[in-house]
Amino acid sequence: MSSTVISGIAALVTNEPSLGDASPLGLVRDAAVVLDGDRVAWVGAAGRAPAADDRVDAAGRAVIPGFVDSHSHLVFAGDRTEEFAARMSGRPYGAGGIRTTVAATRAAGDAALERTLARHLHEALRQGTTTMETKSGYGLTVEDEARALRIAARHTDETTFLGAHVVPPEHADDPAAYVSLVTGPMLDACAPYARWVDVFCEEGAFDGDQARAVLTAGRERGLTPRVHANQLSYGPGVQLAVELDAASADHCTHLTDADVDALAQGSTVATLLPGAEFSTRAAWPDARRLLDAGATVALSTDCNPGSSFTSSMPFCVALAVRDMGMTPDEALWSATAGGAAALRRDDVGRLVPGARADLVLLDAPSHVHLAYRPGVPLAAAVWHRGVRVV
Ligand code: NIG
Ligand code: FE
Repeated sequence: MSSTVISGIAALVTNEPSLGDASPLGLVRDAAVVLDGDRVAWVGAAGRAPAADDRVDAAGRAVIPGFVDSHSHLVFAGDRTEEFAARMSGRPYGAGGIRTTVAATRAAGDAALERTLARHLHEALRQGTTTMETKSGYGLTVEDEARALRIAARHTDETTFLGAHVVPPEHADDPAAYVSLVTGPMLDACAPYARWVDVFCEEGAFDGDQARAVLTAGRERGLTPRVHANQLSYGPGVQLAVELDAASADHCTHLTDADVDALAQGSTVATLLPGAEFSTRAAWPDARRLLDAGATVALSTDCNPGSSFTSSMPFCVALAVRDMGMTPDEALWSATAGGAAALRRDDVGRLVPGARADLVLLDAPSHVHLAYRPGVPLAAAVWHRGVRVV
């Protein structure tokens, strides 16, 4: 096992206030990091760095923890280019488009699904994403949901069962029977490959009672809840998530004061997905309101072929800063430590001794450039589990 010291770092984001300038980002200037095997061994002032086998000169650039993208839907086939183009000419977004991807996904072979998943994971990695959650939800039969999760579990530990994405066409006349399928045989087949259970709680998808049934059944099989909540309209999703102590309530676009209070009081992370509002031309979620109330906020891509076909965490950071009231510091925290909180992980999203050696050398002197230089590929180098992959 070999060690590497990265020195000459102008600004190092650790997300550990006690290691840095006491801000939430725990910023260390003129810093170095030592990686040993797949772990961070040491962080601190460059002048005090211990020796290591290899040396990398950051040459006055910034280093941040790898992005933690806690919400994506990468097991799919086909695309929805025409739907996007129609939307950009004025057609509204609705949950119904999901069925287009369900049909394409059911028709695809395992190898094609896995290739597409791996391609998007690699695309994200090149941009600095070193942890990525992904969901089922485009199969919606026992076999198709189980194979989606089986494939996903070969690539990430963060797998989510989303059999309750929409009611598939063959059950349109009897949604209750579909909920019974999801909470029974489908869950039995999927639980071995999943860590989380999710539900799209929305008009046109699942109501509060159905969502509760899905989440509690998942919890009984050892899966922890997370919820697609309050994306397209006000509704019960956020409060249900907090009541069930879900790890995360995702989207949070339409929130009442009571929803914001619930998120501020509870331990459920509010995960905002600005790529979805961008690609559906919807109003932005109000990150400022959540932060000012005291909620923990994560940022993620929601990468999927319908509502948000981006794998770029820097793009989401830029949107959150430009349009959602976040400071550049807050947005970076939410895209790293916030995502880790939404996945209940403390080994990723921070650069502290013992953490997984996942880090990004930016082609910029400061992390602020992520928002300041939108659309510019700034990941000059990426280490994943201590291995330089970019
Ligand atoms: O998170 N909201 C539900 N699911 C996805 C959209 C999926 C699709 O349109 O295919 C989302 O935005
Ligand atoms: Fe989603």
